[in-house]
Amino acid sequence: MGAHDGAVRVALLGCGVVGTEVARLMTSQATDLAARVGAPLELVGIAVRNLDAQRDPVIDRALLTSDAASLVDRADVVVEVLGGIEPARSLLLRAIAGGAAVVTANKALLGQDGPTLYAAADAAGVDLYFEAAVAGAIPLVRPVRESLAGDRVTRVLGIVNGTTNYVLDQMATVGLELAQAVKQAQELGYAEADPTADVEGYDAAAKAAILASLAFHTRVSVDDVHREGILGITADDVAWAAETGHVIKLLAIAERVGSPGHDDERDTRGIVVRVHPALVPLGHPLAGVRGAFNAVFVEAEAAGELMFYGRGAGGAPTASAILGDLVTVARHRVLGGKGPVESSYAELPVHSIAEAVTRYQIHLRVADRSGVLAQVAQVFAGHDVSIEVVRQGQATVAGGGQADLLVVTHAARDAALSATVADLAGLPVVAAVVSVLRVEGA
Ligand code: HSE
Repeated sequence: MGAHDGAVRVALLGCGVVGTEVARLMTSQATDLAARVGAPLELVGIAVRNLDAQRDPVIDRALLTSDAASLVDRADVVVEVLGGIEPARSLLLRAIAGGAAVVTANKALLGQDGPTLYAAADAAGVDLYFEAAVAGAIPLVRPVRESLAGDRVTRVLGIVNGTTNYVLDQMATVGLELAQAVKQAQELGYAEADPTADVEGYDAAAKAAILASLAFHTRVSVDDVHREGILGITADDVAWAAETGHVIKLLAIAERVGSPGHDDERDTRGIVVRVHPALVPLGHPLAGVRGAFNAVFVEAEAAGELMFYGRGAGGAPTASAILGDLVTVARHRVLGGKGPVESSYAELPVHSIAEAVTRYQIHLRVADRSGVLAQVAQVFAGHDVSIEVVRQGQATVAGGGQADLLVVTHAARDAALSATVADLAGLPVVAAVVSVLRVEGA
C-alpha cells in the first residue's frame, strides 16, 4: 500500500460488549496508537442493528449508522465484531473487494468459511487478521501462524471457551447448576449472543478448526471437528470427577494421528480435531485454569511444549487482541508490508474421532454379585482395550443390589473404546452406563 498521508480510516461493525471496548481503547489510547502506527486511527463509523439502543457513554452516537455497507466503502480497515455468518461474510467480502484490510473476531465465519475470506484477501492483496477469534486476549493465532512457521506442530490441546470453563468451574467449586452458571457467564459478558454456541461446543469447535488449519497447514472446517458440548455434564459427574482426583474441562484437541489400520508410530500423516468434555487430573496445569480463563498447549517437534494462558473471553481482553491486529494492519497501510496468506499446502487428511488415541473413564451401574466384574472385563478384552484402574463406588450412590463401577482404560483407539461401551450397554448385568468421559492430560 505505500505511504499514506492522512489518518487510517477504521470502520467498526458491531457495538456489543467487544465493540464498545474497541471504541474505548481507540479513544483512550489514541495518541499512543497513532505513534505506533505512524498515523492517527480515525474511527469513521460504527455499524449497529439498532440505532436507538442504550450505549456506553464512550460511544459517540454521531458515529452510529445502520448502513453497514456504505460504512465499509469508506474505510481503510474494517473491524468486524458482529459474529455469525451473515451479514458479516458479505460485508467483509465487500470490504476486501474495495481494498480494505480486515480485522475480525468472527470464529464462526472463519471456522466455516475461512478459505473464502483468505482467497478474497489474497486476490485483493489486503490483510486478514483474526487474533481475537481464538482465546480472547491470548496471543495464539500469531504464534501458531508466524512464530512456529518453521517448526512441525504435533498437537494443540487446550481450553478455548471461557463460558464453558466458567460454567464447569462454578459447578465444581460453588455447586451451581449448569443453567445458573450459564446465566452468570452471560451477565459477565463471556457468552456468545446465543449461549448454545458455547455450551454445545460450536464456539470451541470453530476455534479448534482455525487453530488446526494454522498448525497443520491444512484446511479444516468446523464440520471436520468432532464436537460434544457440556449439556450432558451433571452435578453427579462433577462429584465423581472430584472423587477420582480430576476436574471436567471442555477441551479442544487437534493432533497428528496414524493412518487408519496402520500401527506404525512414525506414521502421523493425518490429523483428528475434536472438542469434548474430558477428565483432567488435578495435577495437570489445565486443571488449574479457572473462571473464563483459557489455556492452550502447543507441542512442536523442535520447540517442545509451549503453554499459552490468559483471559479467553470478555470485552476488554478480546478488544486487546483486536487492537493488536488493528495496529499491525494500519501500520502496513502506512509503511507498506502485508501479513501472511493462507497456508494449506500440506493437505493432511482429517480423520474422524475413531482414529484418535485416548483413554476413557466409564461409569457403570451394575448388579452387585459375583462374576459381574469378570463379565465386564471380558468385554474390554474382546476389543483389545486394556484396563488401567477399576474402582467400586460408594454403595449409597447405587440402588439396592447394585454397585457403581468406574473403569479407567489405558490409551486405545476411540473406535475400540466406543465399541466397548456399546457392548457394555448390552450386557444384562449392566443396569446403566451412567457416563463416559475421555481422560486427557494424564
Ligand atoms: N463466548 C466465547 C467464550 C467468547 O466463552 O470463550 C470468546 O470467543
